[in-house]
Amino acid sequence: MITITDNGVGMDQETKNKAFSLFFSSKGTEGTGLGLFVSNKIALSHNGTISIESTLGQGTCFTIVLPNKFKGEVS
Ligand SMILES: Nc1ncnc2c1ncn2[C@@H]1O[C@H](COP(=O)(O)OP(=O)(O)OP(=O)(O)O)[C@@H](O)[C@H]1O
Ligand SMILES: [Mg+2]
Repeated sequence: MITITDNGVGMDQETKNKAFSLFFSSKGTEGTGLGLFVSNKIALSHNGTISIESTLGQGTCFTIVLPNKFKGEVS
């Protein structure tokens, strides 16, 4: 499990819901809306997940969970 936390602008519920959507961006022409879409695809392709905990005006914590492929291989 990897967590990445910031003390930035945070997200409201609608932004959280759309954050992983292709081309969704709240940054206007400054953002492509690719970052989290691609990150989520990478996590899913490794049978993992990314989740968001965020409070508007306070910050955001992303949690990436990836399976341990070595689990059970060492006895
Ligand atoms: N750390 C963060 N704190 C607050 N909001 C975020 C954060 N990361 C992403 N978001 C929200 O999710 C949206 C989508 O993020 P994503 O990274 O996919 O695209 P982007 O940052 O807008 O553009 P780019 O991928 O080009 O950087 C952002 O526009 C923003 O609204
Ligand atoms: Mg981004």
